[in-house]
Amino acid sequence: MAFSDEIITWYNQHKRDLPWRHTRNPYVIWLSEVILQQTRVEQGLPYFYRFLTHYPDVISFAGAPEEEILLHWQGLGYYSRARNMHKAAKAVVAEYDGIFPKKYEDLIRLKGVGEYTAAAVASFAANEAKAVVDGNVFRVLARYFGIDEPINSSKGKKLFLGLADDLLDKVNPGLYNQAVMEFGAIQCKPKHPDCANCVLRLDCRALAERRVNQLPVKIKG
Ligand code: ADE
Repeated sequence: MAFSDEIITWYNQHKRDLPWRHTRNPYVIWLSEVILQQTRVEQGLPYFYRFLTHYPDVISFAGAPEEEILLHWQGLGYYSRARNMHKAAKAVVAEYDGIFPKKYEDLIRLKGVGEYTAAAVASFAANEAKAVVDGNVFRVLARYFGIDEPINSSKGKKLFLGLADDLLDKVNPGLYNQAVMEFGAIQCKPKHPDCANCVLRLDCRALAERRVNQLPVKIKG
């Protein structure tokens, strides 16, 4: 089976049941992705529910006082994320009539929305064929293909982004993106991955070369 098919099959059997996986509402997906930046799923979950309860749509989010948003954000850190969210929500109300965009090209223009978040929202909400590349994806690709180019060098970034685009399942990009991130989060873990029980073990270059713990390579800086 091809890499993306293996990953999707694995995902269908092993995925966690997470609330943002039951919706295609781009506002809700954006909310989850910004909360989950630099935050573990278990820690982010109560915040996700809290924000959705107080601000069920982008119009209520945009209309809330900033101090109130920051109060709900307390404990998550990186307060610029919350401030940027507020700015983005206001822009959606002003420029898109309160209808949260789903296209990568529109999303990437919003405050605090980078390539990762724009690709995540566009692919999960609208199945747009944009590859997501987060820490999980870097790790899975570096190990499976045995790539020792540093993930944070400009050459490495180009290499990984190009590879991620090639591997993207063009029929189900949203499903594939969720799947490869989940695979990195719970199977191809940073420390002590369970390689003996991995569906990719027979084709994993790092495993064959006993380099799983050396990959991915990151240069200090
Ligand atoms: N971390 C970032 N985005 C995620 C998602 N959509 N599901 C699970 N973990 C995530």
